[in-house]
Amino acid sequence: MSRILAVVSQKGGVGKTTTAINIAAAFARRGVKTLLVDMDPQGSVRFGVGLQGSGAGPGIADYLTGARELTAIVRATALPFLRVLLAGTVADSGDHAAYQALVSSSTRLGELLSRARDRGYLVIVDTPPGLGPVVHRVLAAADRVVVPLQCEPLALQTTSQILKGIRTAVAEHPKLKLEGIILTMFEDQNALSRRIADYVRQQLPADLVFDVMIPRTPATVEAFAAGQPVVLRTPDDAAAAAYVALADVLQRRLAK
Ligand SMILES: Nc1ncnc2c1ncn2[C@@H]1O[C@H](COP(=O)(O)OP(=O)(O)O)[C@@H](O)[C@H]1O
Ligand SMILES: [Mg+2]
Repeated sequence: MSRILAVVSQKGGVGKTTTAINIAAAFARRGVKTLLVDMDPQGSVRFGVGLQGSGAGPGIADYLTGARELTAIVRATALPFLRVLLAGTVADSGDHAAYQALVSSSTRLGELLSRARDRGYLVIVDTPPGLGPVVHRVLAAADRVVVPLQCEPLALQTTSQILKGIRTAVAEHPKLKLEGIILTMFEDQNALSRRIADYVRQQLPADLVFDVMIPRTPATVEAFAAGQPVVLRTPDDAAAAAYVALADVLQRRLAK
């Protein structure tokens, strides 16, 4: 599949990590060699994939300082085709400023992501909220970007700003393509949620919003707490099915 796909949003709590983990698991399950990279210094990917261990352990931040080699930070998962690079000890130390400075000043991240892609990996990168220096570095290396957008009342105010911010960031990187916006935590039974989803679709160009919406389901939260992607833990769940459908669409699009 040989692509670098970044999951990015100005906002936190919109489903970036959930999306990154579940798309990665959906691809790996169908035999696509996948590398999931956690660039958020909060390091929550490790909880979602059951790699929490007793502490954060070494990861990308430790590779960037030169303290660890790549082989020492690549983790295997329950899925043979899924490997993970966790955020690393920064998730425990909490020194995000030093981490940002490191990511900005080092060329190792771009080299690492490109090398994985060139070895045939689909590289899926989870990012911290915002369009700060870490996200800029990721976007400089990425081929494609997807943007989760939570179906919540604030979306009515923020959707056009979010699109503008992402477009500006994408424009700075000529090789980068905005693959689309993913509506997340949609509540079918909730009139307000439906209105928000309709509004967002009216506001944005049709080809920029995925038809597939990710519903809000208890199973998604339970799976995260249990350290498993919902697509593996509860495949019959509506959010799991939506993530698999999203991976179908992405697989066709990423091949282009
Ligand atoms: N489809 C969903 N259904 C229910 N809860 C969800 C869903 N997607 C995400 N969540 C929950 O919303 C919160 C934020 O999601 P997360 O993926 O961590 O967002 P971000 O990475 O953007 O901060 C988490 O508690 C997560 O379990
Ligand atoms: Mg996150």
